Amino acid sequence: MEMGLVGLLRAAWVAGILPLLVASLPLPGLGRFHEAVMGFAKRGKIMQSSPCKFTVPQRFFTHFYVLAVLWTGLLLAATWLYAYEMAPIASEPFLYSSIASYLTGGSHLFTLHRSRSTPLKYRYMVWKSVFLLLLMEIQVLRRLYENIYFFNYSPSARMHIFAYLTGLFFYTAAPLSLCSIFAMEVYEFSANLLSEFIVRGKDQMASSEFDLWEFVNPLMKLGWRHWIGAIIFFWGSIHQHQCHRILGSLRELREESGEYVIPYGDWFERVSCPHYLAEIVIYAGLLVASGGSDLTIWLLFGFVVANLVFAAAETHRWYHIKFDNYPWDRFAIIPLIY
Ligand SMILES: NC(=O)c1ccc[n+]([C@@H]2O[C@H](COP(=O)([O-])OP(=O)(O)OC[C@H]3O[C@@H](n4cnc5c(N)ncnc54)[C@H](OP(=O)(O)O)[C@@H]3O)[C@@H](O)[C@H]2O)c1
Repeated sequence: MEMGLVGLLRAAWVAGILPLLVASLPLPGLGRFHEAVMGFAKRGKIMQSSPCKFTVPQRFFTHFYVLAVLWTGLLLAATWLYAYEMAPIASEPFLYSSIASYLTGGSHLFTLHRSRSTPLKYRYMVWKSVFLLLLMEIQVLRRLYENIYFFNYSPSARMHIFAYLTGLFFYTAAPLSLCSIFAMEVYEFSANLLSEFIVRGKDQMASSEFDLWEFVNPLMKLGWRHWIGAIIFFWGSIHQHQCHRILGSLRELREESGEYVIPYGDWFERVSCPHYLAEIVIYAGLLVASGGSDLTIWLLFGFVVANLVFAAAETHRWYHIKFDNYPWDRFAIIPLIY
């Protein structure tokens, strides 16, 4: 069952990456395929030159973040509770070398009591998932805030219905990919807890004292790799926030000119789509924080890169066609490279 979910997620990410990769190849025979994929992927200002049917307003981006905040929050709460109850590590020394690998046959307990007999590496990986989901929740909360308070999508900005459905899928599958290894166990644990609550009622539930320190402290015990990932994540977040602020402020200029304008400042000085670059940095941070050993998270990262590089190339072309005075030294998304 667990491998079924992991396999499904991996297949979905590969299915998303492949067409984007093929459409990005600079081969003349692929022109039509490129146009077809672009027809689904383009949105906002780059869609206005060639509007098509089956579109929804681009302001529906807010739906993605409402879904993501609720779904990631639910996964985070359930996984954190599972980690606290089933994978406590707060009072034990945290040594990689002395860990009996859960991969070599460690068994997991599913009863509703706190367990220290679960292999330490397994418990550590559960807490790592809590850490990743916490970062993801911070990301989608910030994006929801920016979408509501910074962006004022113009009524003519639209996206293909397929892109809308892809966005809903993305924000369902991405948080799940960060905890896919334990998702079924967390689900069983939560279902047991819920049925116990329903059958016995609040007063009859086995009461164990809640220890706030043990609830938070295991996160402090994660290794340096995870904290370096978090630093990369926050570095990308700060720049994306700044770039979104700049894009949001262009709206005021546009109300005077009624047009799109050339953005300046922060990473806009180097690339046309710094907010996409920052998104890639954010997901690179999550990948580093994951330890880099989970193929599902690599594929999630691959999809984010393929999707945003593809969109950035088109946006860069649009800027060059639209503005004669567009800065010649700006790259599309990766400074000095692309
Ligand atoms: N993780 C993923 O796979 C993924 C996928 C897609 C997007 N995202 C993220 O979502 C965020 C938003 O993406 P997006 O594609 O919606 O951004 P966008 O098309 O650049 O639009 C963002 C806002 O800025 C305005 N804007 C953009 N360029 C402008 C210009 N030159 N002059 C004036 N206003 C301008 C837009 O106005 P209009 O409404 O008039 O167009 C819109 O309100 C990005 O940070 C991106 O990284 C992530």
